[in-house]
Amino acid sequence: MPLVPMRQVLMEAAKGAYGVGAFNVNNMEQIQAIAAAANDTRSPVIIQASRGALQYSRMRYLRNLIAAAVEENPDIPIVMHLDHGNSLETCEQAIALGFTSVMIDASLEQDGKTIASYEYNVKTTREVVEYAHRLGVTVEAELGALGGIEDGHGAGIRGDEHLTDPDQVEDFVKQTGCDALAVAIGTSHGAYKTLRYDESGNPLPPRLALERIEEIHKRVPDLPLVMHGSSSVPPELVEIVNRYGGNMQKAMGIPMEDIKFGIQRGVRKINVDTDGRIAFTGAIRKVFVESPGEFDPRKYLAPARDALTELIKGKMTDYGQAGHAGDYEPMTLQDAKKTWYS
Ligand code: G3H
Ligand code: 13P
Ligand code: ZN
Repeated sequence: MPLVPMRQVLMEAAKGAYGVGAFNVNNMEQIQAIAAAANDTRSPVIIQASRGALQYSRMRYLRNLIAAAVEENPDIPIVMHLDHGNSLETCEQAIALGFTSVMIDASLEQDGKTIASYEYNVKTTREVVEYAHRLGVTVEAELGALGGIEDGHGAGIRGDEHLTDPDQVEDFVKQTGCDALAVAIGTSHGAYKTLRYDESGNPLPPRLALERIEEIHKRVPDLPLVMHGSSSVPPELVEIVNRYGGNMQKAMGIPMEDIKFGIQRGVRKINVDTDGRIAFTGAIRKVFVESPGEFDPRKYLAPARDALTELIKGKMTDYGQAGHAGDYEPMTLQDAKKTWYS
């Protein structure tokens, strides 16, 4: 099975009323863990790379590692997606590398920090859509702005500061022609998402504007919605990091029931990076502490890969994508172009 266009994966998810995890990668072990989890659970999957990931891996390495995952798992629909592209040029570069889907995040200006105007977002997204659709490539856009900051991208705002305005959604989608829309409903990137603590100082889950998802879904019922910042930050994974010499603060992410609420109301793509980082790092720390004489990277990277595989298998089951890998014949980018964009 070749890499598939994301639009197909999300439309199939809509038919089956499930969500599909989009997992960030930077290296071989993360890609292998996602592919193993998808294979074990028979799940379609989105593998995504940020600009930082592409820079870190010098692009071709990551692309070829994802291609290896596709080759090894010919019966699993796999999407190769650019996360938080900041310009037409970045998206063109990813498409030239073979990405079957790109995100243009023009909710921020090209610096990845300044909140952009609505007009800038529409114009920039439209340009990317025109370019990508000529090649059958899917485009995810963002309206409103996510909280937090990752690798230089993000306005550093709180998750609840620039929520998506449901009144803008229909116009935005009509003017841009995007295939999927990332919505800001109070989530933020990274481990520290919450502003709420109980009287003992323990974090409480962030309060999401879940009613907005419902409202947005009503306005654009056929458009797949995307939830960024969807890590749950499981306390037991944070505890492993800290037990083995780490120093993470108490944290609380997005509860699975909130993600499921979203999936029941049009959320089809769920972005997760932080949980994978914590699982991976915890497993490595454990080896370092328990076997301080060990210096073969395989001895700590293999347990890290296993920990990540287990985490992702759980998420695939929770999101409902498990068991759906064989539901459909994969489309090529040419098919996508003919079917949706000509
Ligand atoms: O957008 C958020 C992802 O977690 C990517 O993070 O830019 O540090 O690779 P990154
Ligand atoms: P988390 O930081 O919650 O994992 O979100 C990742 C994300 O949204 C990537 O685009
Ligand atoms: Zn994101």
